[in-house]
Amino acid sequence: MRITIFGTGYVGLVTGACLADAGHEVMCMDIDEHKVARLKRGEIPIYEPGLEALVTENVTHGRLTFTTGAREAVAFGTLQFIAVGTPPDEDGSADLQYVLAVARSIGEHMDAYKVVVDKSTVPVGTADRVHEAIAETLAGRGVELPFDVCSNPEFLKEGAAIEDFTHGARIVVGTDAERVKTLMRECYAPYNRRAEKLMFMDVRSAELTKYAANAMLATKISFMNEIANLAERLGADVENVRRGIGSDPRIGYHFIYPGCGYGGSCFPKDVQALSRTAAQIGYPAQLLDAVEAVNERQKATLFAKLKQAFDGDLAGKVVAIWGLAFKPNTDDMREAPSRALMEALWAAGARVRAFDPEAMEECARLYGEHDDLTLVDARDEAVVGADALVICTEWKSFRTVDFAQLKQELATPVIVDGRNLFDPAAVRDAGLLYFAVGRGDSLNRDVPRAR
Ligand code: UDX
Repeated sequence: MRITIFGTGYVGLVTGACLADAGHEVMCMDIDEHKVARLKRGEIPIYEPGLEALVTENVTHGRLTFTTGAREAVAFGTLQFIAVGTPPDEDGSADLQYVLAVARSIGEHMDAYKVVVDKSTVPVGTADRVHEAIAETLAGRGVELPFDVCSNPEFLKEGAAIEDFTHGARIVVGTDAERVKTLMRECYAPYNRRAEKLMFMDVRSAELTKYAANAMLATKISFMNEIANLAERLGADVENVRRGIGSDPRIGYHFIYPGCGYGGSCFPKDVQALSRTAAQIGYPAQLLDAVEAVNERQKATLFAKLKQAFDGDLAGKVVAIWGLAFKPNTDDMREAPSRALMEALWAAGARVRAFDPEAMEECARLYGEHDDLTLVDARDEAVVGADALVICTEWKSFRTVDFAQLKQELATPVIVDGRNLFDPAAVRDAGLLYFAVGRGDSLNRDVPRAR
């Protein structure tokens, strides 16, 4: 079938490439001419494993095309996916201007029945607003045409987006219209063969499902970070506690890793937006607000540990950072804990020497020629002569470390590990001071302080 996708960001591009790969004819529309020109040449603006090959292959076979023309895009597909950005506005609510602009554009150019599919993460009630915007535009043109609006939230993890799209746990579609169900079933048929994954529900429930999923996952992380902070102060080891509770199938092992806080383009934004929605309807969402507050505090924990290690004085210190991306297998630094750390270090007069396997370009783009930032080409280059090593992202390549050698290379033997990668005893046996998350640390175990 013919499908149009508005927005060639992360979600739009993955959706477009995967649907084309399943045999559909897909046209992706974006107003950014430069981006569309690059995409036509097979150049992908983001780092996502497998995506470039998938785009290139489907462009070559003519199943996937790109355009900047709204008229052409609206005419192309019966299904019109909206996958444009919904950035937070000043108070943290989702800004719908791009979504509504696409809706108006569809209303302006359509000349036959369309199903408009909200793919972007949008507040509950947005499908009604999209419906209204299209209806008003059509009325302005003085034409009457049938159309439906449904909600089809994405559940894609960066770094595993293609796998999540093609082998996801569920495909949620919010609609009451039978013909929408038929068309969406046809659209997803290639990815719905082995087991029934399609879940049809009313539009508002589908919209809320997306927020509830992300808020639940963020809650698990903030909960575990709270337990880690308690463990640290109570002389317990959160890694033992994690294994202890995860073994209960009602709790499970997934998403209970404590660390330096969650980041990325979804959790922080979505928890905040759901909380703002709650406030707007006069129901303060206390738990969501706490999830957000705990995460903010957690992102500051690496800096707090460094300060503790250096008796509060970080001026002139050189801090090596391993990992800048908000998680492994992506170059995305949105809301990354590394950013909170670097900014706090600079404010305290320290210098940063950083390495990330994928996010170096992104870091340079964000911070430019910052006087107190040196980006190096290898993890080991970052530590030589540095006063401390901080691990912000759990890239696989950081897991194997020769601690004796590290001790030689660091000017002061301090490791702050925001991802609990190592066995504390092994690190301490090599003579290093080790500050992990929720596992006690070298200071309250009577190991000499760093100077
Ligand atoms: C998330 C959701 O998983 C996905 O379903 C949704 O569509 C978009 O948001 P993503 O932002 O790509 O995906 O990242 P994810 O892998 O979920 O990790 C989010 C953050 O949580 C990362 O900063 C990660 O480091 C942190 N995290 C995750 C923890 O701190 N502990 C955990 O146990 C798991």
